[in-house]
Amino acid sequence: MRQPGSALAVEDMSGSRRAGRRAWTAALDGVATTTLWTLRNRAEFALGPDPLIQDPWAVHAYRTVRYDYTVFGRKPSQSHPLRALAVDRELRGYLRERPDATVVALGEGLQTTFWRLGLPVRRWVSVDLPAVVALREQLYPAEDAIVPVAGSALDRSWMDEVHDPGDGVFVTAEGLFMYLDRQDVLGLVADCARRFPGGRLLFDSIPHWFSRRTLAGMRLSESYTAPPMPTAFTVRENAAVFGALPGVAAVRDVALPLGRGPWGSALLHRLSDLPPLRDVRPSLTLLDFAG
Ligand SMILES: C[S@@+](CC[C@H](N)C(=O)[O-])C[C@H]1O[C@@H](n2cnc3c(N)ncnc32)[C@H](O)[C@@H]1O
Repeated sequence: MRQPGSALAVEDMSGSRRAGRRAWTAALDGVATTTLWTLRNRAEFALGPDPLIQDPWAVHAYRTVRYDYTVFGRKPSQSHPLRALAVDRELRGYLRERPDATVVALGEGLQTTFWRLGLPVRRWVSVDLPAVVALREQLYPAEDAIVPVAGSALDRSWMDEVHDPGDGVFVTAEGLFMYLDRQDVLGLVADCARRFPGGRLLFDSIPHWFSRRTLAGMRLSESYTAPPMPTAFTVRENAAVFGALPGVAAVRDVALPLGRGPWGSALLHRLSDLPPLRDVRPSLTLLDFAG
Protein backbone atom coordinates (compact mmCIF):
# COMPACT_ATOMS: atom_id res chain seq x y z
CA MET A 1 0.00 0.00 0.00
CA ARG A 2 1.25 3.51 -0.77
CA GLN A 3 2.32 5.46 2.26
CA PRO A 4 1.56 9.17 2.65
CA GLY A 5 4.44 11.22 1.28
CA SER A 6 5.35 9.01 -1.65
CA ALA A 7 6.06 10.69 -4.97
CA LEU A 8 3.24 11.73 -7.25
CA ALA A 9 3.05 13.26 -10.73
CA VAL A 10 0.67 16.06 -9.87
CA GLU A 11 2.05 18.11 -12.73
CA ASP A 12 0.21 15.90 -15.16
CA MET A 13 -3.23 16.84 -13.89
CA SER A 14 -3.91 19.58 -16.40
CA GLY A 15 -2.18 17.84 -19.26
CA SER A 16 0.81 20.09 -18.71
CA ARG A 17 4.16 19.11 -17.21
CA ARG A 18 4.39 22.49 -15.46
CA ALA A 19 4.00 21.96 -11.76
CA GLY A 20 2.38 24.38 -9.44
CA ARG A 21 -0.56 26.55 -8.88
CA ARG A 22 -1.34 27.31 -12.50
CA ALA A 23 -1.92 23.64 -13.28
CA TRP A 24 -4.17 23.21 -10.28
CA THR A 25 -6.30 26.29 -10.70
CA ALA A 26 -6.96 25.14 -14.27
CA ALA A 27 -8.17 21.76 -13.00
CA LEU A 28 -10.38 23.02 -10.13
CA ASP A 29 -12.76 25.92 -10.30
CA GLY A 30 -15.97 27.21 -8.75
CA VAL A 31 -17.30 25.16 -5.87
CA ALA A 32 -14.75 22.37 -6.54
CA THR A 33 -11.98 24.71 -5.32
CA THR A 34 -13.53 24.74 -1.85
CA THR A 35 -12.18 21.24 -1.30
CA LEU A 36 -8.72 22.85 -0.93
CA TRP A 37 -10.13 25.20 1.74
CA THR A 38 -11.29 22.35 4.00
CA LEU A 39 -8.20 20.26 3.19
CA ARG A 40 -5.97 23.11 4.32
CA ASN A 41 -7.84 23.43 7.62
CA ARG A 42 -7.65 19.70 8.39
CA ALA A 43 -4.02 19.37 7.34
CA GLU A 44 -2.83 22.42 9.29
CA PHE A 45 -4.30 20.93 12.47
CA ALA A 46 -2.76 17.55 11.67
CA LEU A 47 0.75 19.06 11.69
CA GLY A 48 3.04 19.77 14.62
CA PRO A 49 4.00 17.87 17.75
CA ASP A 50 0.50 17.83 19.28
CA PRO A 51 -1.95 17.56 16.38
CA LEU A 52 -5.67 18.02 16.90
CA ILE A 53 -6.35 15.33 14.30
CA GLN A 54 -4.27 12.38 13.08
CA ASP A 55 -4.49 12.64 9.31
CA PRO A 56 -1.29 11.74 7.41
CA TRP A 57 -3.06 11.46 4.05
CA ALA A 58 -4.48 14.97 4.41
CA VAL A 59 -0.98 16.26 5.16
CA HIS A 60 0.31 14.39 2.10
CA ALA A 61 -2.35 15.95 -0.14
CA TYR A 62 -1.77 19.40 1.33
CA ARG A 63 1.96 19.18 0.70
CA THR A 64 1.53 17.71 -2.77
CA VAL A 65 -1.03 20.09 -4.23
CA ARG A 66 0.87 23.29 -4.76
CA TYR A 67 -1.57 26.09 -4.23
CA ASP A 68 -1.59 29.45 -2.51
CA TYR A 69 -3.75 28.29 0.39
CA THR A 70 -3.61 31.74 2.00
CA VAL A 71 -6.34 32.77 -0.47
CA PHE A 72 -8.66 31.06 2.05
CA GLY A 73 -7.57 33.48 4.74
CA ARG A 74 -4.37 33.83 6.75
CA LYS A 75 -5.47 31.68 9.68
CA PRO A 76 -6.72 28.12 9.30
CA SER A 77 -9.95 27.30 11.16
CA GLN A 78 -10.53 24.41 13.55
CA SER A 79 -14.11 24.04 12.38
CA HIS A 80 -13.25 21.54 9.65
CA PRO A 81 -10.93 19.20 11.62
CA LEU A 82 -13.43 19.20 14.50
CA ARG A 83 -16.27 18.42 12.11
CA ALA A 84 -14.19 15.57 10.65
CA LEU A 85 -13.54 14.16 14.14
CA ALA A 86 -17.27 14.27 14.93
CA VAL A 87 -18.04 12.45 11.68
CA ASP A 88 -15.39 9.80 12.50
CA ARG A 89 -17.01 9.23 15.88
CA GLU A 90 -20.51 8.78 14.42
CA LEU A 91 -19.29 6.56 11.60
CA ARG A 92 -17.31 4.31 13.95
CA GLY A 93 -20.38 3.91 16.17
CA TYR A 94 -22.55 2.82 13.23
CA LEU A 95 -19.92 0.53 11.72
CA ARG A 96 -19.37 -1.23 15.03
CA GLU A 97 -23.08 -2.08 15.07
CA ARG A 98 -23.27 -2.81 11.34
CA PRO A 99 -19.80 -3.85 10.15
CA ASP A 100 -20.97 -4.73 6.63
CA ALA A 101 -22.60 -1.34 6.04
CA THR A 102 -21.84 0.75 2.96
CA VAL A 103 -20.55 4.27 3.53
CA VAL A 104 -21.44 6.93 0.97
CA ALA A 105 -19.48 10.19 1.07
CA LEU A 106 -21.34 12.84 -0.95
CA GLY A 107 -19.20 15.78 -2.05
CA GLU A 108 -16.27 13.89 -0.57
CA GLY A 109 -13.67 16.31 -1.90
CA LEU A 110 -10.23 15.42 -0.55
CA GLN A 111 -11.54 13.88 2.67
CA THR A 112 -9.42 11.07 4.06
CA THR A 113 -11.99 9.62 6.45
CA PHE A 114 -11.60 6.12 5.00
CA TRP A 115 -7.98 5.90 6.22
CA ARG A 116 -8.55 7.82 9.47
CA LEU A 117 -11.26 5.51 10.76
CA GLY A 118 -8.97 2.60 11.50
CA LEU A 119 -11.82 0.16 10.85
CA PRO A 120 -12.33 -2.05 7.81
CA VAL A 121 -15.13 -0.77 5.59
CA ARG A 122 -16.68 -3.16 3.09
CA ARG A 123 -17.82 -0.62 0.51
CA TRP A 124 -17.18 3.13 0.35
CA VAL A 125 -18.94 5.10 -2.39
CA SER A 126 -17.14 8.40 -2.99
CA VAL A 127 -19.15 10.99 -4.94
CA ASP A 128 -17.85 14.32 -6.21
CA LEU A 129 -17.56 16.39 -9.36
CA PRO A 130 -15.28 14.89 -12.05
CA ALA A 131 -12.30 17.24 -11.52
CA VAL A 132 -12.23 16.44 -7.80
CA VAL A 133 -12.55 12.68 -8.34
CA ALA A 134 -9.63 12.86 -10.78
CA LEU A 135 -7.58 14.73 -8.19
CA ARG A 136 -8.39 12.15 -5.49
CA GLU A 137 -7.20 9.41 -7.80
CA GLN A 138 -3.85 11.18 -8.20
CA LEU A 139 -3.38 11.80 -4.50
CA TYR A 140 -4.67 8.76 -2.65
CA PRO A 141 -4.08 5.03 -2.95
CA ALA A 142 -6.59 2.92 -4.84
CA GLU A 143 -8.52 0.69 -2.44
CA ASP A 144 -10.73 -2.25 -3.38
CA ALA A 145 -13.47 -0.97 -1.09
CA ILE A 146 -13.60 2.54 -2.60
CA VAL A 147 -15.96 3.12 -5.53
CA PRO A 148 -15.45 6.57 -7.04
CA VAL A 149 -18.47 8.19 -8.69
CA ALA A 150 -17.68 11.27 -10.79
CA GLY A 151 -20.87 13.30 -11.01
CA SER A 152 -23.38 15.28 -9.06
CA ALA A 153 -24.72 14.01 -5.74
CA LEU A 154 -28.10 15.12 -7.09
CA ASP A 155 -27.91 12.57 -9.88
CA ARG A 156 -29.32 9.53 -8.10
CA SER A 157 -27.22 7.05 -10.11
CA TRP A 158 -24.75 6.76 -7.18
CA MET A 159 -27.54 5.04 -5.23
CA ASP A 160 -27.17 2.01 -7.50
CA GLU A 161 -23.63 1.57 -6.16
CA VAL A 162 -25.11 0.64 -2.77
CA HIS A 163 -25.53 -3.08 -3.43
CA ASP A 164 -26.67 -4.29 -0.01
CA PRO A 165 -28.75 -1.57 1.63
CA GLY A 166 -30.07 -4.21 4.06
CA ASP A 167 -26.57 -4.39 5.61
CA GLY A 168 -26.78 -0.71 6.53
CA VAL A 169 -25.92 2.57 4.82
CA PHE A 170 -24.28 5.64 6.31
CA VAL A 171 -24.34 8.71 4.06
CA THR A 172 -22.14 11.70 4.87
CA ALA A 173 -22.43 15.13 3.30
CA GLU A 174 -19.76 17.39 4.78
CA GLY A 175 -19.66 20.91 3.46
CA LEU A 176 -22.09 20.14 0.65
CA PHE A 177 -25.74 21.00 1.29
CA MET A 178 -25.11 24.74 1.72
CA TYR A 179 -23.98 24.94 -1.93
CA LEU A 180 -27.13 23.25 -3.24
CA ASP A 181 -30.65 24.52 -3.72
CA ARG A 182 -32.85 23.95 -0.64
CA GLN A 183 -35.51 21.96 -2.52
CA ASP A 184 -32.80 19.79 -4.08
CA VAL A 185 -31.43 19.03 -0.61
CA LEU A 186 -34.86 18.07 0.73
CA GLY A 187 -35.56 15.89 -2.33
CA LEU A 188 -32.19 14.15 -2.01
CA VAL A 189 -32.65 13.43 1.70
CA ALA A 190 -36.19 12.15 1.13
CA ASP A 191 -34.90 9.80 -1.59
CA CYS A 192 -32.11 8.55 0.71
CA ALA A 193 -34.67 7.80 3.45
CA ARG A 194 -36.78 5.87 0.95
CA ARG A 195 -33.88 3.92 -0.58
CA PHE A 196 -31.94 3.19 2.62
CA PRO A 197 -34.30 2.18 5.44
CA GLY A 198 -32.36 1.69 8.67
CA GLY A 199 -29.61 3.95 7.32
CA ARG A 200 -28.24 7.24 8.58
CA LEU A 201 -27.31 10.55 7.03
CA LEU A 202 -24.95 13.08 8.58
CA PHE A 203 -24.68 16.60 7.18
CA ASP A 204 -23.70 20.06 8.31
CA SER A 205 -25.59 23.32 7.98
CA ILE A 206 -24.63 26.96 7.97
CA PRO A 207 -26.73 29.61 9.73
CA HIS A 208 -28.77 32.16 7.77
CA TRP A 209 -26.50 35.13 8.51
CA PHE A 210 -23.55 33.26 7.00
CA SER A 211 -25.53 32.28 3.92
CA ARG A 212 -26.50 35.96 3.40
CA ARG A 213 -22.84 36.99 3.64
CA THR A 214 -21.86 34.52 0.93
CA LEU A 215 -24.71 35.69 -1.30
CA ALA A 216 -23.39 39.23 -0.96
CA GLY A 217 -19.89 38.02 -1.98
CA MET A 218 -17.90 36.91 1.05
CA ARG A 219 -14.20 37.54 0.53
CA LEU A 220 -11.86 35.23 2.40
CA SER A 221 -8.90 37.24 1.08
CA GLU A 222 -8.08 39.87 -1.54
CA SER A 223 -8.08 37.23 -4.25
CA TYR A 224 -10.75 34.73 -3.21
CA THR A 225 -14.49 35.10 -2.84
CA ALA A 226 -16.32 32.09 -1.42
CA PRO A 227 -18.94 30.62 -3.77
CA PRO A 228 -22.57 31.44 -2.89
CA MET A 229 -24.07 29.19 -0.22
CA PRO A 230 -27.81 29.65 -0.64
CA THR A 231 -29.04 26.98 1.77
CA ALA A 232 -29.08 27.48 5.52
CA PHE A 233 -30.81 25.70 8.40
CA THR A 234 -30.80 26.43 12.12
CA VAL A 235 -30.78 23.56 14.64
CA ARG A 236 -34.49 24.09 15.20
CA GLU A 237 -35.24 24.15 11.47
CA ASN A 238 -33.27 20.96 10.94
CA ALA A 239 -35.41 19.18 13.51
CA ALA A 240 -38.68 20.49 12.06
CA VAL A 241 -37.90 20.30 8.33
CA PHE A 242 -36.00 17.01 8.15
CA GLY A 243 -38.06 15.43 10.92
CA ALA A 244 -41.16 15.96 8.77
CA LEU A 245 -39.77 14.06 5.76
CA PRO A 246 -41.30 10.61 5.22
CA GLY A 247 -38.94 7.89 6.43
CA VAL A 248 -36.94 10.10 8.80
CA ALA A 249 -37.31 8.54 12.27
CA ALA A 250 -35.03 10.80 14.32
CA VAL A 251 -33.02 14.01 14.01
CA ARG A 252 -30.10 14.68 16.34
CA ASP A 253 -27.87 17.74 16.67
CA VAL A 254 -24.32 16.38 16.94
CA ALA A 255 -21.84 18.24 19.14
CA LEU A 256 -18.31 18.85 17.90
CA PRO A 257 -15.52 17.59 20.14
CA LEU A 258 -13.62 20.22 22.10
CA GLY A 259 -10.77 21.87 20.22
CA ARG A 260 -8.05 24.31 21.17
CA GLY A 261 -8.28 27.87 22.57
CA PRO A 262 -11.86 29.19 22.49
CA TRP A 263 -12.89 26.02 20.62
CA GLY A 264 -11.80 24.10 23.73
CA SER A 265 -13.94 26.05 26.19
CA ALA A 266 -16.49 23.75 27.83
CA LEU A 267 -18.48 26.83 28.87
CA LEU A 268 -18.75 28.18 25.31
CA HIS A 269 -19.63 24.68 24.18
CA ARG A 270 -22.55 24.53 26.62
CA LEU A 271 -23.68 28.07 25.77
CA SER A 272 -23.71 27.23 22.06
CA ASP A 273 -26.42 24.68 22.83
CA LEU A 274 -28.76 27.29 24.25
CA PRO A 275 -30.78 29.93 22.43
CA PRO A 276 -29.95 32.45 21.10
CA LEU A 277 -26.46 31.08 20.25
CA ARG A 278 -27.86 27.74 19.10
CA ASP A 279 -29.75 29.39 16.27
CA VAL A 280 -26.84 31.39 14.91
CA ARG A 281 -24.14 28.74 14.90
CA PRO A 282 -23.29 26.15 12.25
CA SER A 283 -24.51 22.65 13.07
CA LEU A 284 -23.98 18.99 12.34
CA THR A 285 -27.11 16.87 12.08
CA LEU A 286 -27.61 13.11 12.17
CA LEU A 287 -30.74 11.61 10.64
CA ASP A 288 -31.91 8.08 11.40
CA PHE A 289 -33.99 6.50 8.67
CA ALA A 290 -36.88 4.30 9.75
CA GLY A 291 -35.89 0.66 9.38
C1 LIG B 1 -16.44 22.60 0.92
S1 LIG B 1 -15.96 21.27 -0.10
C2 LIG B 1 -16.09 19.94 1.09
C3 LIG B 1 -15.27 18.79 0.69
C4 LIG B 1 -15.22 17.67 1.72
N1 LIG B 1 -16.54 17.13 1.95
C5 LIG B 1 -14.62 18.16 3.00
O1 LIG B 1 -15.32 18.30 4.00
O2 LIG B 1 -13.43 18.42 3.00
C6 LIG B 1 -17.43 21.01 -1.12
C7 LIG B 1 -17.31 19.79 -2.00
O3 LIG B 1 -18.58 19.53 -2.58
C8 LIG B 1 -18.38 19.19 -3.93
N2 LIG B 1 -19.62 19.44 -4.65
C9 LIG B 1 -20.25 20.61 -4.89
N3 LIG B 1 -21.39 20.41 -5.55
C10 LIG B 1 -21.50 19.08 -5.74
C11 LIG B 1 -22.48 18.25 -6.33
N4 LIG B 1 -23.57 18.76 -6.89
N5 LIG B 1 -22.28 16.92 -6.33
C12 LIG B 1 -21.16 16.38 -5.78
N6 LIG B 1 -20.21 17.12 -5.18
C13 LIG B 1 -20.38 18.45 -5.16
C14 LIG B 1 -17.22 20.07 -4.36
O4 LIG B 1 -16.62 19.62 -5.55
C15 LIG B 1 -16.33 19.97 -3.14
O5 LIG B 1 -15.49 18.86 -3.20
